[in-house]
Amino acid sequence: MHILGIETSCDETGVALVEARGGVSRPRFLVLKNLVSSQVKIHASFGGVVPNLAKREHLKNLPKLWERIMNKELGIRNGGRRPIIPNSKFTIPNIDLIAVTVGPGLEPALWTGINFAQGLGEKYGIPVIGANHLEGHLYSFLLPKKKSIISNSRFSIFKKNPNYRLPITNYKKIFPSIALIVSGGHTLLLCMNSLVSWKKLGETRDDAAGEAFDKVARLLKLPYPGGPEIEKLARSGDSQHIAFPRPMLHQKNFDFSFSGLKTAALYYLQDHPRAKKEDVAASFQAAALDVLTHKTRRAAEHYGARSIIVAGGVAANKALRARLGKAARALEVPLFAPPPAYNLDNAAMIAAAAYFSAFRKKRNALSAKGNLRI
Ligand code: KG4
Ligand code: ZN
Repeated sequence: MHILGIETSCDETGVALVEARGGVSRPRFLVLKNLVSSQVKIHASFGGVVPNLAKREHLKNLPKLWERIMNKELGIRNGGRRPIIPNSKFTIPNIDLIAVTVGPGLEPALWTGINFAQGLGEKYGIPVIGANHLEGHLYSFLLPKKKSIISNSRFSIFKKNPNYRLPITNYKKIFPSIALIVSGGHTLLLCMNSLVSWKKLGETRDDAAGEAFDKVARLLKLPYPGGPEIEKLARSGDSQHIAFPRPMLHQKNFDFSFSGLKTAALYYLQDHPRAKKEDVAASFQAAALDVLTHKTRRAAEHYGARSIIVAGGVAANKALRARLGKAARALEVPLFAPPPAYNLDNAAMIAAAAYFSAFRKKRNALSAKGNLRI
């Protein structure tokens, strides 16, 4: 099945074409194209994402990305009659499904993607389904590491693709799995019994982990988004220099709280205006990662997890991956994380989420839901 994914929930416009097969029991994905147009530079001067600016940029970017996918990148011309893949039979009507993020996210931004998807659906007679952005992050670990080579035949892309590796060979062996989703808007822990059934164990009661990274970065006068900047500075800092709090570390639940940690950083900087930025970054990161790792590990122990999954923008943080990797090794279970291209918001993961939602009873309505839950 060929799925066109569309993502506009925040400040990245994404359009991707993904081939999916195998169903829930043995899913396999090939990313034929994954285009992301980032608005980070536009929002950076405001220190965060401005919803109406995001909407304006999505409106501008969506037709451009679609055009790039269809014309330049894949060689479709003449209103879809020429093939997507040169010399093949693949044309726009061969796209089986259009998947678009309906939430959670900024509603004005989400609507741009939904309207665009519906327009394409009507024009080409392709069904459109709504995808949950968080489920997209959750499934991003299933996307293949290497870029796909597009082969000539419409039906043999998988067979001919030498780069395709199954990230997992036996899906029965990885469940139950503990999944940590850490992004700019969310921090939550799930216990998954299969790829399509899970229980939410806990979530943040205030700021998301990525939001805390962004806010502390702003206190340190680092550019937006702050996560990668903090990570960079932290490498040359002393992580034990400041004893920042580890909020809720020892509470028996699986919830998180990061706003107190951010406030502690604020007070520290007020009291120590000449503090070394590297030490503040390293000490803050250590505190945040301690909580994330500790709670994930405890959940894995408690539920007898046979694997750990991490996803979302903060999963790009190498120190977090290293810490979770160590925890997973101690428990003798594998850690699954998305390849670098799919940590941040993208449309390939939205296509994957839509593929699985097709197997679940619950369908998302095609209207923007800023607070959609997982
Ligand atoms: O998943 P994402 O692209 O968007 C949301 O769905 O929120 O995540 C963006 C968040 C931002 O807060 C950003 O600062 C954070 O992920 N982030 C990082 C790193 N890279 C991105 N946080 C810590 N370390 C990083 N390397
Ligand atoms: Zn996201």
